Amino acid sequence: MGLLIRNGEIVTVGSRFSADIYVQSETISAIGVNLDTPADTEIIDASGKLVFPGFIDPHVHVYLPFMATFAKDTHETASVAALIGGTTTYIEMCCPNRNDDALEGYQLWKSKADGKSACDYAFHMSVTKFVEETESQLRQIVADGTASFKIFLSYKNFFGIDDAEMYQTLELAKRLGVIVTAHCENAELVARLQQKLLAEGRTGPEWHEPSRPESVEAEGTGRFATFLENTGATGYVVHLSCERALHAALNAKSRGVKIHVESVLPHFLLDKTHAERPGVEGMKHVMSPPLRAKSNQTALWNALELGSIDTVGTDHCPFDMEQKLLGKDSFVNIPNGIPGIEDRVNLLYTHGVKRGRLDMHRFVDAASTRAAKLFGLFPRKGQIAVGSDADLVIYDPDYRGVISAKSHQVNNDYNGFEGMEIEGRPSLVTVRGKVQVRDGKFVGERGRGKMLKREPSYF
Ligand code: URP
Ligand code: ZN
Ligand code: ZN
Repeated sequence: MGLLIRNGEIVTVGSRFSADIYVQSETISAIGVNLDTPADTEIIDASGKLVFPGFIDPHVHVYLPFMATFAKDTHETASVAALIGGTTTYIEMCCPNRNDDALEGYQLWKSKADGKSACDYAFHMSVTKFVEETESQLRQIVADGTASFKIFLSYKNFFGIDDAEMYQTLELAKRLGVIVTAHCENAELVARLQQKLLAEGRTGPEWHEPSRPESVEAEGTGRFATFLENTGATGYVVHLSCERALHAALNAKSRGVKIHVESVLPHFLLDKTHAERPGVEGMKHVMSPPLRAKSNQTALWNALELGSIDTVGTDHCPFDMEQKLLGKDSFVNIPNGIPGIEDRVNLLYTHGVKRGRLDMHRFVDAASTRAAKLFGLFPRKGQIAVGSDADLVIYDPDYRGVISAKSHQVNNDYNGFEGMEIEGRPSLVTVRGKVQVRDGKFVGERGRGKMLKREPSYF
């Protein structure tokens, strides 16, 4: 059966116009005014609605053993929440730790998603050590269609790698044509500052940010950039949180370093005072890099508008309140992370586009198209064009609502954006031509999502 999306206002990075979209099977087969309606076609009236390409979250955690516990989601729950929020593809961090075998980890992460996700997905493969078998294992993983790596410069002795391993990873990535994403904080400084603060009796969540100050992130970002410069590899800084780190990345870019920048939703909308709230309220907002002084947000919004921040992800990583309380006696034991997969698009649209901080086309770029281009998914994803996958978000700009854990779908007992208003939401969402969300509710097929295979392109 075909699908005709009639009279919507199509918005892509480069254009905005009213037209119909015809979907045959899984792809867009025609775009035009007053398209014919073949027999056996479902007609969707998109009058008064915006039609966006399916949104892409380039940074999520679904299966994640971390900080003595596991993130709350499964692919069943995360993908439904993603789709309700307009995200039709996510890229999950595959994160075996230093003691795990990388290839076994990769198979495990794949098995958790296989046949479970309702939306399409891909992986960034974390390199959490560099040993004899690493090169051959990473070659197999890239050949399997996972053409991006992840490194952590923090989380010492768990995910974190040292400079020698970073060099080896980047040098291999350059040879393989793979982009390397990086969590940039100085692991040694974080460990030392944590010890110092705890020794002084500073144990509450408000001390998380001082244990990983802006300088520590700026150093990590600058060091990653210097290693990119000297290996020729292409890099992508994940969840950049502050102006100092932004300067480090943009300075490197201005001298020709191939570096891209992602910031994640919490850093645009929340600030360190959220983590300074007493008890579990503060713990809910503990993530790394930490929420920063609000003064950083202007720089982030401006860089986003200009495109110097390439993408907005979520770093979706839900831990419930009981898990957060693992850190009640010491902030270093609070599981780091916050959910966001369901709310990213609506909050970015509301607080970016509607508030005049973000051009609508740049919004589409930052939340969809740029990630598709950087991570080898374009033009299959991130675009509304004949031949592209029919991943479409019919967006209702007249919807008004409030974010709340009482109504969200994400598998968590709190929402870090509780009480924030949204002015717009997806009313209908398709994934490869199938309606997965209607009237804001999941109506689709669970387990239909496919792993997206990607080719290396950074030679
Ligand atoms: O606090 C965070 N960001 N948790 C998830 C792990 C990571 O660093 O991405
Ligand atoms: Zn991280
Ligand atoms: Zn992450």
